[in-house]
Amino acid sequence: MIDLRWRVLHYREEIFAEGDQFIPVGQVVSSIENFAHRTDRFGSHVTKRRWPRVGELTSLVGLRAPELNSVRRRLSQAHTIEDLRRIALRRTPRSVFDYTDGAAGEELGLSRARETFRNLEFMPSVLRDVSQVDISSSPFGVRSPMPFAFAPTGFTRMMNYQGEPAVARVAARRGIPYALSTLGTTSIEDVAEVSVGGRLWFQLYVWRDRLTAEDLVRRAEAAGYEALILTVDVPVAGVRLRDVRNGLTIPPKLTARTLVDMAVHPSWWANLLTTEPLEFASLTSWSGTVADLLDSIIDPTMTIDDLAWLRSNWNGRLVVKGIQSVADARRVFDAGADAVILSNHGGRQLDRAPVPLRLLPEVRSALGPDVELWLDTGVLNGADIVAGHALGADLVLVGRAYLYGLMAGGERGVDRAAEILTDEIIRTLKLLGVSSIAELSPEHVRVT
Ligand SMILES: Cc1cc2nc3c(=O)[nH]c(=O)nc-3n(C[C@H](O)[C@H](O)[C@H](O)COP(=O)(O)O)c2cc1C
Repeated sequence: MIDLRWRVLHYREEIFAEGDQFIPVGQVVSSIENFAHRTDRFGSHVTKRRWPRVGELTSLVGLRAPELNSVRRRLSQAHTIEDLRRIALRRTPRSVFDYTDGAAGEELGLSRARETFRNLEFMPSVLRDVSQVDISSSPFGVRSPMPFAFAPTGFTRMMNYQGEPAVARVAARRGIPYALSTLGTTSIEDVAEVSVGGRLWFQLYVWRDRLTAEDLVRRAEAAGYEALILTVDVPVAGVRLRDVRNGLTIPPKLTARTLVDMAVHPSWWANLLTTEPLEFASLTSWSGTVADLLDSIIDPTMTIDDLAWLRSNWNGRLVVKGIQSVADARRVFDAGADAVILSNHGGRQLDRAPVPLRLLPEVRSALGPDVELWLDTGVLNGADIVAGHALGADLVLVGRAYLYGLMAGGERGVDRAAEILTDEIIRTLKLLGVSSIAELSPEHVRVT
């Protein structure tokens, strides 16, 4: 009781410091000077008080109609890519989330890449006019409204039933180039059809069966794809231990464990079972682990000479993805590549591979300003994209960032991911005192 009374007294004192003047509602105080020099018995200045008017209170009330759409409601809680990742974790079966989120071995290739982005320092300039910023980039010398692209990711319809078409639609609407994977679950033609006005690239693994590869390349050309991205860092699959431990197969099998999971993620399973069967669009059929699949289709005998074979089958732009040294970058440009992607495959192949962001300045200074260098791995924030451009990248690709959005809320989730990254890019540029991506230079970033 005593304690309670003491609390009430104490509270009163905090709110109405002794000596404060309380003015009844509507009473007009002739001039502020009436109060300006008043002090209480301890000599503290006395603040004038009054009752609030009804109109003042109603303008403070922030009641809004509740959001009835559950996806929009869910996504409105996401302010960062990490928020989308947390929602994705709740919405998706654990083995599917782990397939996307995971990397190879001890996952050091991925964690080091992310840490490098987190640890860098930006060096801002102040007193610059940043009222307007231009965040466009120019892959292959053609203007793109955004400084980033969506990286190729296999089996996208497993993460969410809306899959590649959802990603392609968002990409086209927002002017983000999108690379469809060889291991996509929607066909080359179907993605082209929904990508109205979009910029599409096709990612190719070099198949043991070259005729199948040539057929895919012809189809991509016929469907109007602008560039071919040859991924070269998968002579064998990296060991993705989470998949091994979860027993993930493609397509997911109905086991006692997955049946339990159905109770926890009923909408994911209902969507899987009531839409087109989950299959690779460019492979006849497969039943096994992703690693076994990669090992069975990819040709480990491939060498730099095979770029000439690809060149003779493809008239568009040619990009080589998975370059991890200055020497290899030089070799593939000499062999006719139009661009290279410095990437360690999001840490999913060789664990402890070089961090692409660290490699970037070395490759840029060795090969000069004229070659086209792209970057990926570890991007979770628009600020990471800004840092990549500052250190010499012409374009930055994001993989998991949009996949977390897809798992969190299908097409709307991908859109939210793109919106978050875009807002972060614009704000970072303004705070750096820079009014365009093109203006960024290595002086804006210190890699520690
Ligand atoms: C789930 C998943 C599937 C992927 N599938 C492919 C693929 O089929 N072909 C490919 O070249 N890269 C693939 N990648 C690698 C991405 O293209 C990209 O290099 C990587 O995601 C970049 O790292 P980030 O996820 O940290 O942005 C995949 C990545 C993820 C996360």
